[in-house]
Amino acid sequence: MQQLIIVLDFGGQYSHLIARRVRDLGVYCEVKSYATPVETLREMKPAGIILTGGPNSVYLDTSPRCSAAVLELGVPVLGICYGAQLMAYLAGGEVAPAPRGEYGRVALEVLEPPCALFAGVPPESTAWMSHTDYIARLPEGFQALAKTANCPVAAMGCREKRLLAVQFHPEVQHTEYGDRVLENFLKPICGCVGDWQMSGYVEQTIARLKERIGDQKVICALSGGVDSTVAAVMVHRAVGKQLSCIFVDHGLLRKNEGDQVETICKKNFDMNFIRVNAQEEFLGKLAGVTDPEAKRKIIGETFIRVFERESKKIGKVGFLVQGTIYPDVIESGAGDSAVIKSHHNVGALPDAVDFEEIIEPLRMLFKDEVRRAGLELGIAPELVWRQPCPGPALGVRILEPITPERVALLQEADAIFREEVAAAGLEREISQYFAVLTNVKSVGVMGDGRTYAATIALRAVTTSDFMTAEFVPLPYDLLGRVSSRIVNEVPGVNRVVYDITAKPPGTIEWE
Ligand code: XMP
Repeated sequence: MQQLIIVLDFGGQYSHLIARRVRDLGVYCEVKSYATPVETLREMKPAGIILTGGPNSVYLDTSPRCSAAVLELGVPVLGICYGAQLMAYLAGGEVAPAPRGEYGRVALEVLEPPCALFAGVPPESTAWMSHTDYIARLPEGFQALAKTANCPVAAMGCREKRLLAVQFHPEVQHTEYGDRVLENFLKPICGCVGDWQMSGYVEQTIARLKERIGDQKVICALSGGVDSTVAAVMVHRAVGKQLSCIFVDHGLLRKNEGDQVETICKKNFDMNFIRVNAQEEFLGKLAGVTDPEAKRKIIGETFIRVFERESKKIGKVGFLVQGTIYPDVIESGAGDSAVIKSHHNVGALPDAVDFEEIIEPLRMLFKDEVRRAGLELGIAPELVWRQPCPGPALGVRILEPITPERVALLQEADAIFREEVAAAGLEREISQYFAVLTNVKSVGVMGDGRTYAATIALRAVTTSDFMTAEFVPLPYDLLGRVSSRIVNEVPGVNRVVYDITAKPPGTIEWE
């Protein structure tokens, strides 16, 4: 039977990151609400349970708490941050405001003799903390396992009951030996083997989708991007032709992208695939518009109208599939970034379609995990490794009003850039790269003649979260090849520049 770790979520910012680290260590793991009844947890037969962090104080009545019976299930439990304090509180210890909170990197001292949780961790290392409360008194039967200057119980444990807790965050990269601590918990302490792979997740999700959807109809808005395609293929594997995918081609996709998506969905997966060729409708509405916000709005609204029109033809629909992935979930919960996302994606879509529930099969996964799932599902690597592209696509990479000619020009330039980057073997090392059709025209000389033509800007960045980014120092010979090919092969361009701005202060897209 597959070994399972349950992550009980108390609302911490890093709950899914914990799940992610556990999966990276080869152990299957599910995130469950802190309110999950203890009976349900028992029936799931976990090999261990992790209590996550959270923004509250355990001693307040309004704070999320699980039953103390979770500590009595007979499986190892690891409390992290708020989870550590909750364990202390539930086991009869005392949690109080710390005389001094700790935020950021702190020096962690492992106490002698080191507990199995700290095997391989040196006596002094760096850990990442973020807490205002602390464990002021250990519960009976517990021992302090580590300390910091301001936190006498930076880790504690009760050997007999296999209960462990750490005040620091082992799941964040800034904790030097965080992975080691998690691995110690999972393998020697919980007895997990670490043989889980993405294929298991895919199969399990498909089985659950099958059960949840039953014989109802499902609809999916396919953008052609990695996330929505992987989500659609997964649902298709679960319910086959009950799923209808609507792919609105707004005419602003990268070169050949529309056809590629159609081939994959129709030919490779035999889906109910409806391609709506709405290029003229979109380009008609965009005629003469320069302002990027106005362009986004028009594209977003037109998309909804077209989708609405097509979805009505399908009849009664039970579910709408969305390719939401975990970083979208974090962003939409976090202050200003929520606003950023609402125009990034087709925000109003759910209101325009008549369905009962949303299905988000990738909600727990990070981008690279989505890619792995895509490969497991048999989706072509070219699509799985495709660079992210904004919903409005080339619409926001043409700085002048959009015309069919400008779209065609940018498609060609962008395709050359992509081809050369791939040929140089750099495709997977760059987070995002693309060409922009700027609004700069300048004089050039070609053959014997003077030209006055457009400037293409190239952009290539690395980033882990798209909130900040670095430009990629692409080799000059590669840049030279791309520049020469674009100027020679794309009529209307006589100059190519490379953007060396980081984000911030720049953004990734130009607009
Ligand atoms: P910026 O330009 O804000 O972009 O640094 C950050 C990331 O978001 C993508 N992006 C979008 N994605 N719809 C999307 O789905 C949009 O309207 C949109 N605008 C920007 C951008 O490509 C980068 O990956």
